[in-house]
Amino acid sequence: MSLLVTGGLGFVGSHFVRVATEAGAAIVVLDDGSGGEAAKLPDGVRVVRGDIGDVDLVARVVREERVDGAVCFAGLIQVGESMRLPERYFDVNVSRSLRLLETLRRAQVERVVFSSTAAVYGTPAAPEPIVESSVKAPINPYGATKLTFEFALEAYGRAHGLKWAALRYFNAAGAHPSGELREAHDPETHLLPLAIDAALGRRPPLTLFGDDYPTPDGTCVRDYIHVCDLATAHLAALDRLTRATVGAVNLGTGAGYSVRQVVDAVGSVVAPVPHATAARREGDPPVLVACADRARDLLGWTPTRSDLATIIEDCARSRR
Ligand code: UFG
Repeated sequence: MSLLVTGGLGFVGSHFVRVATEAGAAIVVLDDGSGGEAAKLPDGVRVVRGDIGDVDLVARVVREERVDGAVCFAGLIQVGESMRLPERYFDVNVSRSLRLLETLRRAQVERVVFSSTAAVYGTPAAPEPIVESSVKAPINPYGATKLTFEFALEAYGRAHGLKWAALRYFNAAGAHPSGELREAHDPETHLLPLAIDAALGRRPPLTLFGDDYPTPDGTCVRDYIHVCDLATAHLAALDRLTRATVGAVNLGTGAGYSVRQVVDAVGSVVAPVPHATAARREGDPPVLVACADRARDLLGWTPTRSDLATIIEDCARSRR
Protein backbone atom coordinates (compact mmCIF):
# COMPACT_ATOMS: atom_id res chain seq x y z
CA MET A 1 0.00 0.00 0.00
CA SER A 2 1.48 3.37 -1.02
CA LEU A 3 -0.61 6.16 0.44
CA LEU A 4 -0.86 9.90 -0.04
CA VAL A 5 -1.94 11.35 3.31
CA THR A 6 -3.06 14.97 3.12
CA GLY A 7 -3.08 16.81 6.44
CA GLY A 8 -0.73 14.20 7.90
CA LEU A 9 0.77 16.72 10.34
CA GLY A 10 -2.57 17.41 12.00
CA PHE A 11 -4.14 15.73 15.01
CA VAL A 12 -5.99 12.81 13.41
CA GLY A 13 -3.67 12.67 10.39
CA SER A 14 -0.48 12.27 12.43
CA HIS A 15 -2.04 9.49 14.47
CA PHE A 16 -3.09 7.73 11.29
CA VAL A 17 0.44 8.04 9.88
CA ARG A 18 1.87 6.48 13.04
CA VAL A 19 -0.61 3.58 13.12
CA ALA A 20 -0.52 2.94 9.35
CA THR A 21 3.28 2.95 9.26
CA GLU A 22 3.32 0.40 12.07
CA ALA A 23 0.94 -1.67 9.92
CA GLY A 24 3.41 -1.56 7.02
CA ALA A 25 2.00 1.17 4.77
CA ALA A 26 4.36 3.38 2.77
CA ILE A 27 3.28 6.98 3.25
CA VAL A 28 3.92 10.37 1.74
CA VAL A 29 2.40 13.28 3.64
CA LEU A 30 1.18 16.44 1.90
CA ASP A 31 0.57 19.26 4.35
CA ASP A 32 0.88 23.04 4.28
CA GLY A 33 1.51 23.23 8.04
CA SER A 34 -1.52 25.44 8.64
CA GLY A 35 -3.16 23.07 11.12
CA GLY A 36 -0.28 22.95 13.57
CA GLU A 37 2.61 20.55 13.62
CA ALA A 38 2.59 17.03 14.98
CA ALA A 39 5.29 16.34 17.54
CA LYS A 40 6.92 13.52 15.63
CA LEU A 41 6.24 11.51 12.49
CA PRO A 42 7.86 8.08 12.06
CA ASP A 43 11.27 7.91 10.37
CA GLY A 44 11.08 7.35 6.64
CA VAL A 45 7.84 9.21 6.08
CA ARG A 46 8.34 11.80 3.34
CA VAL A 47 6.68 15.13 4.10
CA VAL A 48 5.90 17.43 1.18
CA ARG A 49 4.98 21.01 2.09
CA GLY A 50 2.25 22.27 -0.14
CA ASP A 51 -1.33 22.85 -1.07
CA ILE A 52 -3.84 20.10 -1.84
CA GLY A 53 -5.12 22.29 -4.70
CA ASP A 54 -1.69 22.46 -6.39
CA VAL A 55 -2.41 20.17 -9.33
CA ASP A 56 1.17 19.90 -10.59
CA LEU A 57 2.59 19.19 -7.15
CA VAL A 58 0.02 16.52 -6.31
CA ALA A 59 0.41 14.84 -9.73
CA ARG A 60 4.19 14.77 -9.31
CA VAL A 61 4.09 13.33 -5.79
CA VAL A 62 1.56 10.67 -6.77
CA ARG A 63 3.74 9.67 -9.72
CA GLU A 64 7.00 9.67 -7.80
CA GLU A 65 5.64 7.62 -4.92
CA ARG A 66 3.44 5.34 -7.07
CA VAL A 67 0.51 6.21 -4.83
CA ASP A 68 -2.42 3.81 -5.03
CA GLY A 69 -4.63 5.23 -2.30
CA ALA A 70 -5.29 8.61 -0.70
CA VAL A 71 -6.38 9.46 2.82
CA CYS A 72 -7.64 13.03 2.94
CA PHE A 73 -7.41 14.71 6.35
CA ALA A 74 -6.49 18.18 5.11
CA GLY A 75 -9.22 20.73 5.67
CA LEU A 76 -10.50 23.46 7.93
CA ILE A 77 -12.37 22.24 11.01
CA GLN A 78 -13.58 25.07 13.22
CA VAL A 79 -17.32 25.47 13.33
CA GLY A 80 -17.27 29.04 14.73
CA GLU A 81 -14.68 30.24 12.22
CA SER A 82 -16.72 28.73 9.40
CA MET A 83 -19.67 30.94 10.40
CA ARG A 84 -17.49 34.07 10.19
CA LEU A 85 -15.34 33.14 7.19
CA PRO A 86 -17.39 30.77 5.01
CA GLU A 87 -15.33 31.73 1.96
CA ARG A 88 -12.26 30.06 3.47
CA TYR A 89 -14.21 26.87 4.15
CA PHE A 90 -15.65 26.68 0.64
CA ASP A 91 -12.22 27.43 -0.79
CA VAL A 92 -10.28 24.76 1.13
CA ASN A 93 -12.91 22.11 1.87
CA VAL A 94 -14.62 22.31 -1.51
CA SER A 95 -12.64 24.08 -4.29
CA ARG A 96 -9.15 22.90 -3.40
CA SER A 97 -10.40 19.51 -2.29
CA LEU A 98 -12.17 19.04 -5.64
CA ARG A 99 -8.95 19.90 -7.46
CA LEU A 100 -7.23 17.23 -5.38
CA LEU A 101 -9.94 14.68 -6.19
CA GLU A 102 -9.71 15.39 -9.91
CA THR A 103 -5.92 15.14 -9.83
CA LEU A 104 -6.21 11.78 -8.10
CA ARG A 105 -8.68 10.58 -10.73
CA ARG A 106 -6.42 11.62 -13.58
CA ALA A 107 -3.55 9.80 -11.91
CA GLN A 108 -5.77 6.70 -11.59
CA VAL A 109 -5.71 6.59 -7.81
CA GLU A 110 -8.69 4.34 -7.20
CA ARG A 111 -9.17 4.47 -3.42
CA VAL A 112 -9.97 7.57 -1.39
CA VAL A 113 -10.73 7.81 2.32
CA PHE A 114 -12.11 11.18 3.40
CA SER A 115 -12.40 12.77 6.85
CA SER A 116 -16.01 13.78 7.25
CA THR A 117 -17.86 14.77 10.38
CA ALA A 118 -20.98 14.40 12.49
CA ALA A 119 -21.57 18.06 11.62
CA VAL A 120 -23.18 16.88 8.36
CA TYR A 121 -26.24 15.91 10.44
CA GLY A 122 -26.80 19.36 11.93
CA THR A 123 -29.14 19.28 14.91
CA PRO A 124 -30.78 15.85 15.03
CA ALA A 125 -34.54 15.92 15.61
CA ALA A 126 -34.32 13.21 18.29
CA PRO A 127 -31.61 12.27 20.80
CA GLU A 128 -31.38 8.68 19.47
CA PRO A 129 -28.08 7.44 18.01
CA ILE A 130 -27.63 8.78 14.48
CA VAL A 131 -27.51 6.35 11.56
CA GLU A 132 -25.80 7.20 8.29
CA SER A 133 -29.12 7.56 6.47
CA SER A 134 -30.41 10.11 9.01
CA VAL A 135 -31.32 13.54 7.66
CA LYS A 136 -28.28 15.57 6.65
CA ALA A 137 -28.97 19.21 7.44
CA PRO A 138 -25.73 20.97 8.39
CA ILE A 139 -26.19 24.13 10.43
CA ASN A 140 -22.81 25.66 9.66
CA PRO A 141 -20.54 26.07 6.62
CA TYR A 142 -18.08 23.57 8.10
CA GLY A 143 -20.67 20.77 7.93
CA ALA A 144 -22.03 22.02 4.60
CA THR A 145 -18.61 21.93 2.93
CA LYS A 146 -17.87 18.43 4.24
CA LEU A 147 -21.23 17.18 2.95
CA THR A 148 -20.62 18.84 -0.42
CA PHE A 149 -17.39 16.91 -0.82
CA GLU A 150 -19.21 13.69 0.10
CA PHE A 151 -21.59 14.38 -2.81
CA ALA A 152 -18.59 14.74 -5.12
CA LEU A 153 -17.19 11.40 -3.94
CA GLU A 154 -20.51 9.73 -4.57
CA ALA A 155 -20.72 11.17 -8.08
CA TYR A 156 -17.13 10.16 -8.89
CA GLY A 157 -17.94 6.70 -7.62
CA ARG A 158 -20.93 6.37 -9.94
CA ALA A 159 -19.34 7.95 -13.00
CA HIS A 160 -15.73 6.83 -12.72
CA GLY A 161 -15.75 3.79 -10.44
CA LEU A 162 -13.88 5.57 -7.66
CA LYS A 163 -13.91 3.52 -4.46
CA TRP A 164 -14.44 5.87 -1.55
CA ALA A 165 -15.20 6.09 2.14
CA ALA A 166 -16.41 9.20 3.97
CA LEU A 167 -15.73 8.61 7.65
CA ARG A 168 -17.97 10.79 9.76
CA TYR A 169 -16.06 11.40 12.98
CA PHE A 170 -17.95 12.18 16.13
CA ASN A 171 -15.75 13.77 18.84
CA ALA A 172 -12.13 12.84 18.14
CA ALA A 173 -10.16 12.83 21.39
CA GLY A 174 -7.29 11.17 23.28
CA ALA A 175 -3.72 10.81 22.03
CA HIS A 176 -1.23 8.09 21.14
CA PRO A 177 -0.38 6.16 24.35
CA SER A 178 3.34 6.90 23.80
CA GLY A 179 2.59 10.54 24.62
CA GLU A 180 4.61 11.53 21.52
CA LEU A 181 1.68 12.93 19.56
CA ARG A 182 -0.88 15.36 20.84
CA GLU A 183 -3.92 17.41 20.00
CA ALA A 184 -2.55 20.87 19.21
CA HIS A 185 -5.07 23.08 17.52
CA ASP A 186 -4.44 26.79 17.42
CA PRO A 187 -6.58 28.09 18.95
CA GLU A 188 -7.67 25.04 20.93
CA THR A 189 -11.46 24.91 21.19
CA HIS A 190 -12.11 21.27 22.11
CA LEU A 191 -13.45 20.24 25.48
CA LEU A 192 -10.98 17.57 26.53
CA PRO A 193 -7.68 19.37 26.01
CA LEU A 194 -9.13 22.53 27.54
CA ALA A 195 -10.52 20.67 30.58
CA ILE A 196 -7.28 18.75 31.12
CA ASP A 197 -5.11 21.85 30.70
CA ALA A 198 -7.32 23.67 33.23
CA ALA A 199 -6.96 20.74 35.65
CA LEU A 200 -3.16 20.84 35.20
CA GLY A 201 -3.14 24.59 35.80
CA ARG A 202 -1.90 25.25 32.27
CA ARG A 203 -4.87 27.32 31.19
CA PRO A 204 -7.55 29.43 32.84
CA PRO A 205 -10.61 27.70 34.29
CA LEU A 206 -12.84 25.92 31.78
CA THR A 207 -15.95 27.72 30.58
CA LEU A 208 -18.83 25.29 30.48
CA PHE A 209 -21.08 26.40 27.62
CA GLY A 210 -24.69 26.04 28.75
CA ASP A 211 -26.38 23.95 31.44
CA ASP A 212 -29.96 24.40 30.27
CA TYR A 213 -30.07 21.88 27.43
CA PRO A 214 -32.81 19.22 27.31
CA THR A 215 -30.41 16.52 28.56
CA PRO A 216 -30.26 14.66 31.90
CA ASP A 217 -27.87 17.16 33.56
CA GLY A 218 -28.52 20.12 31.27
CA THR A 219 -25.14 19.98 29.47
CA CYS A 220 -24.48 18.75 25.93
CA VAL A 221 -23.93 15.06 25.29
CA ARG A 222 -21.21 13.90 22.87
CA ASP A 223 -19.74 10.63 21.63
CA TYR A 224 -15.96 10.71 22.24
CA ILE A 225 -13.82 8.48 20.06
CA HIS A 226 -10.12 7.84 20.64
CA VAL A 227 -7.91 9.13 17.84
CA CYS A 228 -6.07 5.78 17.63
CA ASP A 229 -9.40 4.04 17.09
CA LEU A 230 -10.11 6.54 14.33
CA ALA A 231 -6.75 5.62 12.80
CA THR A 232 -7.52 1.88 12.75
CA ALA A 233 -10.93 2.59 11.20
CA HIS A 234 -9.14 4.26 8.27
CA LEU A 235 -7.00 1.16 7.81
CA ALA A 236 -10.11 -1.03 7.89
CA ALA A 237 -11.75 1.23 5.28
CA LEU A 238 -8.68 1.08 3.01
CA ASP A 239 -8.68 -2.68 3.26
CA ARG A 240 -12.37 -2.86 2.40
CA LEU A 241 -11.85 -0.50 -0.55
CA THR A 242 -9.59 -3.05 -2.24
CA ARG A 243 -12.75 -5.14 -2.74
CA ALA A 244 -15.70 -2.74 -2.85
CA THR A 245 -16.73 0.82 -2.23
CA VAL A 246 -17.71 1.82 1.30
CA GLY A 247 -19.66 5.09 1.27
CA ALA A 248 -20.42 7.03 4.44
CA VAL A 249 -19.67 5.48 7.84
CA ASN A 250 -20.10 6.95 11.32
CA LEU A 251 -17.10 6.66 13.62
CA GLY A 252 -18.23 6.82 17.21
CA THR A 253 -18.82 4.45 20.10
CA GLY A 254 -22.58 4.67 20.48
CA ALA A 255 -22.19 5.98 24.04
CA GLY A 256 -22.69 9.61 24.99
CA TYR A 257 -21.20 11.62 27.88
CA SER A 258 -22.35 15.02 29.02
CA VAL A 259 -19.93 17.92 29.43
CA ARG A 260 -20.42 17.62 33.19
CA GLN A 261 -19.64 13.91 33.12
CA VAL A 262 -16.45 14.68 31.20
CA VAL A 263 -15.48 17.37 33.70
CA ASP A 264 -16.11 14.96 36.58
CA ALA A 265 -14.14 12.18 34.87
CA VAL A 266 -11.16 14.50 34.31
CA GLY A 267 -11.52 15.36 38.00
CA SER A 268 -11.14 11.71 39.01
CA VAL A 269 -8.44 10.73 36.50
CA VAL A 270 -6.27 13.90 36.49
CA ALA A 271 -7.26 16.61 38.99
CA PRO A 272 -10.35 18.70 39.70
CA VAL A 273 -11.23 21.00 36.79
CA PRO A 274 -11.72 24.62 37.82
CA HIS A 275 -14.71 25.78 35.79
CA ALA A 276 -17.55 28.27 35.51
CA THR A 277 -20.82 27.95 33.66
CA ALA A 278 -21.65 30.43 30.91
CA ALA A 279 -24.21 30.85 28.16
CA ARG A 280 -24.65 28.34 25.36
CA ARG A 281 -22.16 28.39 22.48
CA GLU A 282 -23.79 29.09 19.14
CA GLY A 283 -24.42 26.04 16.99
CA ASP A 284 -24.05 23.29 19.62
CA PRO A 285 -26.65 20.52 19.19
CA PRO A 286 -27.80 19.11 22.59
CA VAL A 287 -26.99 15.46 21.79
CA LEU A 288 -24.73 13.90 19.15
CA VAL A 289 -24.25 10.16 19.52
CA ALA A 290 -23.38 7.76 16.71
CA CYS A 291 -25.00 4.49 15.83
CA ALA A 292 -21.76 2.61 15.16
CA ASP A 293 -23.31 -0.54 13.65
CA ARG A 294 -22.26 0.12 10.06
CA ALA A 295 -18.59 0.52 11.00
CA ARG A 296 -18.73 -2.74 12.90
CA ASP A 297 -20.66 -4.71 10.28
CA LEU A 298 -19.04 -3.39 7.11
CA LEU A 299 -15.51 -2.62 8.26
CA GLY A 300 -15.23 -5.15 11.08
CA TRP A 301 -14.09 -2.26 13.30
CA THR A 302 -14.72 -1.78 16.98
CA PRO A 303 -13.07 0.83 19.17
CA THR A 304 -10.63 -0.53 21.77
CA ARG A 305 -9.30 2.61 23.53
CA SER A 306 -12.42 4.76 23.57
CA ASP A 307 -13.63 4.34 27.13
CA LEU A 308 -13.64 7.79 28.69
CA ALA A 309 -10.96 7.07 31.32
CA THR A 310 -8.46 5.81 28.71
CA ILE A 311 -9.15 8.79 26.45
CA ILE A 312 -8.51 11.15 29.38
CA GLU A 313 -5.37 9.31 30.56
CA ASP A 314 -3.86 9.31 27.07
CA CYS A 315 -4.75 12.94 26.47
CA ALA A 316 -3.34 13.98 29.86
CA ARG A 317 -0.08 12.05 29.29
CA SER A 318 0.47 13.96 26.04
CA ARG A 319 -0.01 17.33 27.80
CA ARG A 320 2.05 16.98 30.95
N1 UFG B 1 -17.47 22.84 25.53
C1 UFG B 1 -17.51 23.60 26.67
N2 UFG B 1 -16.45 24.41 26.93
C2 UFG B 1 -15.36 24.52 26.12
C3 UFG B 1 -15.32 23.72 24.95
C4 UFG B 1 -16.41 22.90 24.69
O1 UFG B 1 -18.47 23.56 27.45
O2 UFG B 1 -14.46 25.31 26.41
C5 UFG B 1 -18.60 21.97 25.24
C6 UFG B 1 -19.26 22.34 23.92
O3 UFG B 1 -20.21 23.34 24.11
C7 UFG B 1 -19.86 21.00 23.50
C8 UFG B 1 -18.87 19.96 24.08
O4 UFG B 1 -18.13 20.66 25.07
O5 UFG B 1 -21.08 20.83 24.11
C9 UFG B 1 -17.91 19.43 23.06
O6 UFG B 1 -17.33 20.53 22.38
P1 UFG B 1 -16.09 20.40 21.40
O7 UFG B 1 -15.77 21.77 20.92
O8 UFG B 1 -15.01 19.61 22.06
O9 UFG B 1 -16.63 19.51 20.21
P2 UFG B 1 -17.91 19.73 19.28
O10 UFG B 1 -18.90 18.71 19.74
O11 UFG B 1 -18.36 21.13 19.22
O12 UFG B 1 -17.30 19.47 17.88
C10 UFG B 1 -17.16 18.23 17.32
C11 UFG B 1 -16.03 18.28 16.30
C12 UFG B 1 -16.41 19.15 15.16
C13 UFG B 1 -17.76 18.73 14.62
C14 UFG B 1 -18.79 18.73 15.71
C15 UFG B 1 -20.11 18.25 15.22
O13 UFG B 1 -14.84 18.77 16.89
O14 UFG B 1 -15.44 19.02 14.15
O15 UFG B 1 -18.37 17.87 16.74
O16 UFG B 1 -21.10 19.07 15.79
F1 UFG B 1 -18.16 19.57 13.67
